[in-house]
Amino acid sequence: MNKERETSGWSQRFELALHPAIARFNASISFDIELIEYDLTGSVAHAKMLARTGIISAEEGEQLVAGLERIRTEYRQGTFQPGVEAEDVHFAVERRLTEIVGDVGKKLHTARSRNDQVGTDTRLYLRDRIHQIRQQLRQFQQVLLDLAEVNVETIIPGYTHLQRAQPVSLAHHLLAYLQMAQRDWERLGDVYRRTNISPLGCGALAGTTFPIDRHYSAELLGFADVYANSLDGVSDRDFAIEFLAAASLIMVHLSRLSEEIIFWVSEEFGFAKLKDSCATGSSIMPQKKNPDVPELVRGKSGRVFGHLQALLVLMKGLPLAYNKDLQEDKEALFDAVKTVQACLEAMTILLKEGLEFRSERLAQAVESDFSNATDVADYLAAKGVPFREAYNLVGKVVKTCLAANKLLKDLSLEEWQQLHPAIEADIYEAIAPRQVVAARNSYGGTGFGQVRQALEAARQKIRD
Ligand code: ARG
Repeated sequence: MNKERETSGWSQRFELALHPAIARFNASISFDIELIEYDLTGSVAHAKMLARTGIISAEEGEQLVAGLERIRTEYRQGTFQPGVEAEDVHFAVERRLTEIVGDVGKKLHTARSRNDQVGTDTRLYLRDRIHQIRQQLRQFQQVLLDLAEVNVETIIPGYTHLQRAQPVSLAHHLLAYLQMAQRDWERLGDVYRRTNISPLGCGALAGTTFPIDRHYSAELLGFADVYANSLDGVSDRDFAIEFLAAASLIMVHLSRLSEEIIFWVSEEFGFAKLKDSCATGSSIMPQKKNPDVPELVRGKSGRVFGHLQALLVLMKGLPLAYNKDLQEDKEALFDAVKTVQACLEAMTILLKEGLEFRSERLAQAVESDFSNATDVADYLAAKGVPFREAYNLVGKVVKTCLAANKLLKDLSLEEWQQLHPAIEADIYEAIAPRQVVAARNSYGGTGFGQVRQALEAARQKIRD
């Protein structure tokens, strides 16, 4: 019998050693080591269940648990570092366990397969990460809220088609992102519910001949339920795909905000400045201050979307039940988790301390355009002129102003009254940017009263 085969995790049916390149190709230890703490936790629960159901003795159960906990300590201390010979984290742990506790270690895998084991580990891992990401979303929302609170009356141009449309409160603009993050937070809550189901005890695919208690191990691991069908249990990765979809939307939101920040800090817009702690320079152009953080966030969104696509494609042709293709789920999932976490952290810091709005530039911006044109039409409509008629009249006056290089506020009362006799001196007040914003007091609008209420509602919501 070949030496390597003796130490591998599989049965004695193999005679020849695995080609070293194939061993490397097959191994997942380089990345699934990320799951080790969850593998240990899952194995502890399994060992306790085996003892409780009498499949192994209580003493054997205790030995297994103690050995697993020792591996945890060794791993944390850096003394347990399995290499490619272990194939994957599950074999690595089982092998080390047997070294520590002796032959009883070989009982751990009773009534279990790596198929239900890896599914359990991945769910335990993702549950933790979902928690962390939801907390990070809360911090991100808090920073948006803080920034909105001091900017209710800061007015910025609002755009449609990236053309000046109507001015809005900066707080209103920031709270739009807070709402997106709220949906992200809720969506992850949904994903969590479907992640929090135990496949442990589904065995390789068909269940087991042993009198196991799946509900007990699930309860020990804090799972809310167990998979009802063993084939589904070992081969379901819906939860991972759902997570990647939710993660992709987080990245869409962060990327949109990034895009705006990149505009805002450009010389062309000049609405904000980057502080030195969050900006980078150029190696050749000494004057440059670059928005690398939002650019990286925008760029990194692509890899998360890619991972979602990868998993959808990975799953679509898989017959029941476990197939080794499923080993490919991990790097996608781990990278998406790390990317989302890193981007949320960076954007939270950027908003908290890296961005300074230039109020003088913003004030000037909203004073120097036609984004109050709708308000003239609304003014006339409020005086009984049918809106479409008013709209056409204002279109005409904008055209005249453009030709004369004037703004609406530059028109004399006489010129206004030529446009329509119903116009009075209060038109100037009605088209001043502050009033234009304040007047949009419909529910969900940018009126200051609405924005203050929205702030209060958001503050309540993110406290939940
Ligand atoms: N490393 C494997 C994975 O990540 C563990 C499960 C292996 N199961 C098997 N039947 N070969 O999917």
